[in-house]
Amino acid sequence: MRLSIRQTALTSAALSLMAAPAFADDISFAAADTALSDHVVLYLNDDLSLPADMNDEMSDALTRAIEGSGFKGDFGTSQHFYGLGDMKSVTVIGTGGDVLTRRNLHDLGGHAIKAPGEGALTIVVDGLNTDVTAPSADLALGYRLGDYSFTTYKTGDLPEDRDVIFAGSDNRAADALTETDYEGVADAISMVRDLGNAPGLEVYPETFVDRVRNESRGIANLKISVMGVREMEREGMGAILGVGKGSVHDPRLLILEYNGAASSEAPLALVGKGITFDTGGISLKPNSGQWLMKSDLSGAAAVAGTLISTAKRGADINLVGVMPLAENMPDGKAIRPGDVLTTYNGKTIEVMSTDAEGRLLFVDAVPYTIEKYEPELIVNIATLTGSVGRALSDEYGGVITRDFELAQTMMDIGERSGEDVWPLPLHPNHYKQIKSDIADIKSTAGSPGASIGAAVIGTFVEEDQPWVHIDMAGVDWRDSPTPTAPKGHAGWGVRFMDQLVRDYEAE
Ligand code: BES
Ligand code: ZN
Ligand code: MN
Repeated sequence: MRLSIRQTALTSAALSLMAAPAFADDISFAAADTALSDHVVLYLNDDLSLPADMNDEMSDALTRAIEGSGFKGDFGTSQHFYGLGDMKSVTVIGTGGDVLTRRNLHDLGGHAIKAPGEGALTIVVDGLNTDVTAPSADLALGYRLGDYSFTTYKTGDLPEDRDVIFAGSDNRAADALTETDYEGVADAISMVRDLGNAPGLEVYPETFVDRVRNESRGIANLKISVMGVREMEREGMGAILGVGKGSVHDPRLLILEYNGAASSEAPLALVGKGITFDTGGISLKPNSGQWLMKSDLSGAAAVAGTLISTAKRGADINLVGVMPLAENMPDGKAIRPGDVLTTYNGKTIEVMSTDAEGRLLFVDAVPYTIEKYEPELIVNIATLTGSVGRALSDEYGGVITRDFELAQTMMDIGERSGEDVWPLPLHPNHYKQIKSDIADIKSTAGSPGASIGAAVIGTFVEEDQPWVHIDMAGVDWRDSPTPTAPKGHAGWGVRFMDQLVRDYEAE
């Protein structure tokens, strides 16, 4: 009886996870001269110049209120004023003095969420200092990202949503860009956050695939394929299979292929770590904070999100996303420290800690992807090591490549995307340290950090293959909100890889 109750609850929650109502507010775009609602947001730069068409009475009242408040227009600062003229509230948000980039606009859009106002809110987009063609679209994207909440397990009434109207002369362009492009990016990030926030009880390889399959349905030129245990055995993927052995949920290899360019064009390949829960396995993690390991699928989720949003906007590129999925559990059937696994390309690896499981997924998935797809560039992305978070805090993802120019390219992409990365080293000594006494290599060595993890994966990538490793363990989860991400899973990596795809597409 008890079992049947539990199963009912599980099924209904699992269903709601398939289409979670992630964004509360309804966003639209209107012409600059549209009637304002009772609640208004104004963006002001640091010379505090008010919109030219504001009537004298209102601008006098607002000028006095701003002076009294000490608001200076510094970037990201805000102030609410109540009862000015006919307005119930006016929120001013500072844009500073510099030319605003897309990431700045995302942040400024996110700041508008704090504005009071039930029912409707008008955000006036007027005179922004920016070269971005339809800034309202970027503001709206930022607003949507910050407005996400994970409500699948909340019972009772949810907060009322409101209509958010961006009023500006770019309204037509912003509407079109949102519809054909940015909405897909926002929805993808919302899917990634759902997958990262949802408990391991619900998200395991099979249900991860279900969610991605659901979101991929009906998108042109996007193909989904899934390998189960038997297929992976046939391919000789002993490492992925090894990681999954302790779980009642079998591992999978999920592949999304998007063909938006001529088939003769080499694809860009993205490979993401998808550990749906990381207990550490037999090398069990301590209890404190272990719950967070429900988000150890962040890399795979970000890859899925990027493939889906890229395909939705019909980008002119070939893109492949490879997502090894497994649950890392301790069990009588689980792999042990000291076990030796045979990988896809025949090399053997000695498992020094079953908690260093992410690299085991990659030593199969990365050479498989290179052999099968011959990519122009392969990027693997993962919550691989705690050490990257200690080194770079939650401000930067770690980027490791053999080619410093490529690292700089990645830093530039990060800077523009709003998701920053910073390089970490990969030294010949890191390769020396992972020599094994009984197998070809071992999975950890010395005082293991992000670089040792990258060296393990790098052993499976030829020198002349352009390759980037991104360790996102410090940035995928937020203990406190940012303008564009609430507390919890950040959906980190989609904006980064989206920018990467756009850059490669433009080439
Ligand atoms: N999933 C963890 C890394 C992690 C730690 C992600 C904290 C997010 C927050 C990974 O599988 C792991 O356990 N790494 C070990 C590697 C070690 C055993 C070589 C680590 O970083 O301690
Ligand atoms: Zn892990
Ligand atoms: Mn681990």
